[in-house]
Amino acid sequence: MTRVLSGIQPTGRFHWGNYFGAIRQYIALQTHEQAFYFIADLHALTTVRDPAQLREFTHDAALDLLALGLDPAQATLFRQSDVPEVTELTWLLMTVTQMHLLEKCHAYKDKKAKGLAADAGLFTYPVLMAADIIIYDSDLVPVGLDQVQHIEVARDVAQRFNSIYQREVFVLPQPYVLDATAKVPGVDGEKMSKSYGNTIEIFEAPKKLRKKVMSIKTDSTPVEEPKNPDTDAVFALYRLFADQPQQDALAARYRQGGMGYGEAKQQLYDAAMEYYAAARQRREQLAADPHTLEDILQAGAAAARTKAGAVLDRARDACGLVARRASV
Ligand code: ADP
Ligand code: TRP
Repeated sequence: MTRVLSGIQPTGRFHWGNYFGAIRQYIALQTHEQAFYFIADLHALTTVRDPAQLREFTHDAALDLLALGLDPAQATLFRQSDVPEVTELTWLLMTVTQMHLLEKCHAYKDKKAKGLAADAGLFTYPVLMAADIIIYDSDLVPVGLDQVQHIEVARDVAQRFNSIYQREVFVLPQPYVLDATAKVPGVDGEKMSKSYGNTIEIFEAPKKLRKKVMSIKTDSTPVEEPKNPDTDAVFALYRLFADQPQQDALAARYRQGGMGYGEAKQQLYDAAMEYYAAARQRREQLAADPHTLEDILQAGAAAARTKAGAVLDRARDACGLVARRASV
C-alpha cells in the first residue's frame, strides 16, 4: 500500500485556506492510503519563540485535525518531536547534503534577500523535512506548490545517501501536489494567509466569526445595482461551503441587483457555521477530554517510532554505525 505522509506546522490557528488547501485533502487520502500525518512542532521552532504559544498551537492543531475528520483508526497522527529518531537521521542526512542545495531553498533565500540574518535551523530546515519523509519509507508527500522544492531536496539527499553507501537504504519520495485551484481569499480579497493577517479561523467563536465575515472587503456597488459574483471574495468563499443549487441561487441574486453585500455575508456566515457544525461539536467533546487526545498522539508516536527505528537502523548500518536492532 502506498505510504502517504505530510506534516503541518503549528504556527497559528488553522484557517479556511488551510482547510480547503490542505487539511480536507489530507483527510480524503486516509481512506485508501496508509497515511501518516504529523504536527511539525520542530519546524515551528524556527518561527514560534514563545513556549506557551507553541504548546497551545500544537495542541490546537491536533484537536482541529481530529475534529475535522482525521480518523486515528485509519491514519496515524503524531507530534514530530515525539519521534527522536527523526533528529538523529537529520544528522546522518546532513553529512551528505550539499550546501548549494540548501542555499537555493526559498525560506532561507527569501530571508537573506531581505537582508535578515537567518538561523542555522532555517538553513537546514529542508534536511529535517527530508528526514521526516524518508524515515517512514514514504512514497507520496501531499503538499502545496510552495513545498515541492523541499520534496526535491529530500529525493536528492536520499539518492545521494543511497549512492554513497551503494545500497537502496531509502525509498525516494514523490510530491503529490495538492489542488491549489481553490486558492482561498482572505478578508481583504488577497490570498488568505497568517502572514497577511487576513485569515478566518475554522473554529473562531461564532460572534467573532460573524464580525470577520462582515468585514470582508467588497466593492462599492450600491444595493440596487447588479453585482458580479465572479469577482467578489464573499461569493468565492460562499462557493466553498454551498452546494451547486445554493451557489446558483446566490449568483442569480447578485446579478439581479437589489441585494446588498451584507445579505451575502450573512448567507456566507450561515453556510460556514452549518458546514463546520459537526466538527465544532466534535472539537468541544475532544477538548473536554484531554486524556483521549494525548492517548491518540501517544499511540500515533509509538506506531511512527516503530517504523522510524527500523529505517534509521538501515541507515546506521549502511554508513558504518552500529545498528540498534539485531536484524536490519
Ligand atoms: P499560512 O499562509 O497561513 O502561513 P501555511 O503556509 O502554514 O499557511 O499553509 C499550510 C497549508 O495550507 C499549505 O499546504 C498551504 O498550501 C495551504 N494554504 C494556506 N493558505 C491557503 C489559501 N489561502 N488557499 C489555499 N491553500 C492554502
Ligand atoms: N515544511 C512544511 C510546511 O511548512 C511542513 C512539513 C514539515 C512537512 N515536515 C514535512 C510537509 C514533511 C511534508 C512532509 O508546510
